[in-house]
Amino acid sequence: MLLSAENVSKTFGSLRAVAGANLAIDEGEIIGLIGPNGAGKSTFFNCLAGDTLPTTGRIVFDGRDVTRASPEEHAELGVGRTFQVPATFEDLTVLDNVMVGAFLRHPHRGAAREHALQVLDLVGLGDRQNLRARSLGTPGRKRLEIARVLATGPRLMLLDEALAGLTPVELQQAIALVKKIHQTGVTLVIVEHIMEVIMTLAARVIVFNQGHVIAQGKPADVVRQEAVIEAYLGRGHRNWRKKD
Ligand SMILES: Nc1ncnc2c1ncn2[C@@H]1O[C@H](COP(=O)(O)OP(=O)(O)OP(=O)(O)O)[C@@H](O)[C@H]1O
Ligand SMILES: [Mg+2]
Repeated sequence: MLLSAENVSKTFGSLRAVAGANLAIDEGEIIGLIGPNGAGKSTFFNCLAGDTLPTTGRIVFDGRDVTRASPEEHAELGVGRTFQVPATFEDLTVLDNVMVGAFLRHPHRGAAREHALQVLDLVGLGDRQNLRARSLGTPGRKRLEIARVLATGPRLMLLDEALAGLTPVELQQAIALVKKIHQTGVTLVIVEHIMEVIMTLAARVIVFNQGHVIAQGKPADVVRQEAVIEAYLGRGHRNWRKKD
């Protein structure tokens, strides 16, 4: 097992955003994490990546208790995450943004640059390395956010709506990119409202509702479950393609 979350909760005042969530992730998996707006998916990612301290519960990564570890310690150990609102440095170039991630494993500037350029090629931003991040459109930003995390050399990548807001063509390219990243040996958890992404990429789907897991299993089985249709997909799959 690569990561396990046991009985993880996060409360904000009287709101239980995450309410006793359990999840076990094996190395090499692609897991889809779905659920309605406000279900606690991003907050759960925050807990898994050290961006917030869970109120209760325990998180173990690669045999180590990381419940109280900082985001930097998580990155060091190999847990990388993208943010729903991209955390790019707008005034830095595309290359410099990715070098920020690359410095984690390549302290020397030359090696960091080399590695960042390789990552930019992988994500298809090689020809835009000298542009300011702010000048990228939505698909470029999404790729840059993925590249920044990828450059830190994660074993586990948590993607929080990293494929949202793309045209159908861009979406297919982004799906291909995620497959490519998976093929390099990275384990992935993907939060996405676009069911097509989940059905195409995930071998296992976890459904969150009101802070905890209400269903999990193979995508085709999960989407037929009454509780999942009730809480998320809706009658006639009204949210099949996109939910905002
Ligand atoms: N820092 C915070 N302070 C107070 N409440 C918060 C905070 N962060 C999240 N919440 C609340 O916790 C609940 C879960 O939010 P979260 O962002 O984790 O949901 P989500 O499943 O990611 O939703 P979405 O699909 O819209 O991104 C929501 O009710 C949200 O308003
Ligand atoms: Mg969210």
